[in-house]
Amino acid sequence: MITLPPKRTSAENVLATMRAARARDVRWREGKAWSLVFYSGDDVLALLQEAYTMFFSENGLNPMAFPSLKKFEAEVVAMTASLLGGDEGTAGNMTSGGTESLLMAVKTAREWARSTRPAITQPEMILPATAHPAFDKAAHYFGVKAIHVPVAADFRADIDAMRAAITPNTIMIVGSAPSYPQGVLDPIPELAHLAREHDILFHVDACVGGMMLPFVRQLGYPVPDFDLGVPGVTSISADLHKYGYAAKGASVILYKTRGLRRRQFFVSTDWPGGIYASPTMMGTRPGGAIAAAWAVMNYLGEEGYLSIADTVMKTATKLRQGIEAIAGIKVLGQPVMSVMALGSDGLNIYEIGDEMTARGWYLDRQQYPASLHLTVNYAHAASADQFLADLGEAVARARRFSFGKLANAVQVGLVRGVTKILPEKLVSDLTGRALALLGQGGGLPQRSAAMYGMMASLPNRGDVNEIVLDLLDGLTRVEEKPAGN
Ligand SMILES: Cc1ncc(COP(=O)(O)O)c(C=O)c1O
Repeated sequence: MITLPPKRTSAENVLATMRAARARDVRWREGKAWSLVFYSGDDVLALLQEAYTMFFSENGLNPMAFPSLKKFEAEVVAMTASLLGGDEGTAGNMTSGGTESLLMAVKTAREWARSTRPAITQPEMILPATAHPAFDKAAHYFGVKAIHVPVAADFRADIDAMRAAITPNTIMIVGSAPSYPQGVLDPIPELAHLAREHDILFHVDACVGGMMLPFVRQLGYPVPDFDLGVPGVTSISADLHKYGYAAKGASVILYKTRGLRRRQFFVSTDWPGGIYASPTMMGTRPGGAIAAAWAVMNYLGEEGYLSIADTVMKTATKLRQGIEAIAGIKVLGQPVMSVMALGSDGLNIYEIGDEMTARGWYLDRQQYPASLHLTVNYAHAASADQFLADLGEAVARARRFSFGKLANAVQVGLVRGVTKILPEKLVSDLTGRALALLGQGGGLPQRSAAMYGMMASLPNRGDVNEIVLDLLDGLTRVEEKPAGN
């Protein structure tokens, strides 16, 4: 069992071990990662590091103790509101990320319904199937029932289906601007109208688009209305640690009115430790994340965000055209900005993903339909040509080998239902193998087509759930000796 080192280790040693530990991490600076990291240049990174470390000990829980953080948060919220159709009545807070912002939106809706719709004992919220799972997490945490509605053929929320899902228990509907899986914009004005008709709340999840779409529109690309300026939108979330290029741990949740925002707060007045008030989920709030967000917004300003958005959009357009030019693959739907899904009608897209992984690219795998995910950022301007060249090769290889393996066969459905007739032991061995393949090399996944093939074919989704829970369970298992031992 690993223990705390009995003796001190030199800072030099500790840092050297940490640097070495990064060796197998994805090389996002070189534009190899298509998710997780939003890079906008070394000058921004240097500023973030300095701003973050300047405030890394400070705690945003008590703004009275740190008027600096109070000012930063208030200004960050106001700047974000000004980009997203806010007015004098708009109120919001910084949170640790998109998930926390969405948790807050759902918690606020529940409190709103408790006081304005006391007859509702089992509140429901309606989600297009593409809405981020953080809404399901919120539903799970706060006892709100999530109703999932299939999206239309263009992957956007289906208004009629959303309307049909409304019941007397509905307290909120949700739309995304854009949705993560295919990067398409839900029909926000129509959804807002629906919400108004039923006098319910409407949250727009602009976590990924909130700091990008305003600039994309200014650059002249068509962006339908999506923000607080649309009558009926009652709250909106925008992540600063995505296209806002802030340090991780920074998002904004905004409400149409202060009254609505008030329902988000938590206060405990009887604690022996004193009166405790907390605006969001977290208790201690990292000062560094608040400070770094303020720093980057002031450093870049409108000019900086526009110029980065211009580069990102030109790169996204180039990638889209390049993908469409490769026979056998395509971009799904009509992405509104720089987030898109890469799919195929005939080829095993996961096999293509594995070929790309072998070439050093880190792409998320998606399902329903099977696809690879691309979140384009500034770093991809330099790597897009190589990406497209490698993609051409990966598609060619996938075409040649796509019918060679059992796992593939399972995936492409040639023997769909095989898991129903194979003995249970073989199914579990295959799944185990698939999971082992995922972790092959101990670093980034090398071959995931087999695993996704198995997952897609397991007759029982509960089994998939268990397998993923096992994976989570295993993540905190210590693998290597710590520094100095
Ligand atoms: C549309 C959307 N909403 C919410 C989130 C959750 O954000 P976070 O990972 O910062 O919690 C994401 C993350 O990718 C997202 O794309």
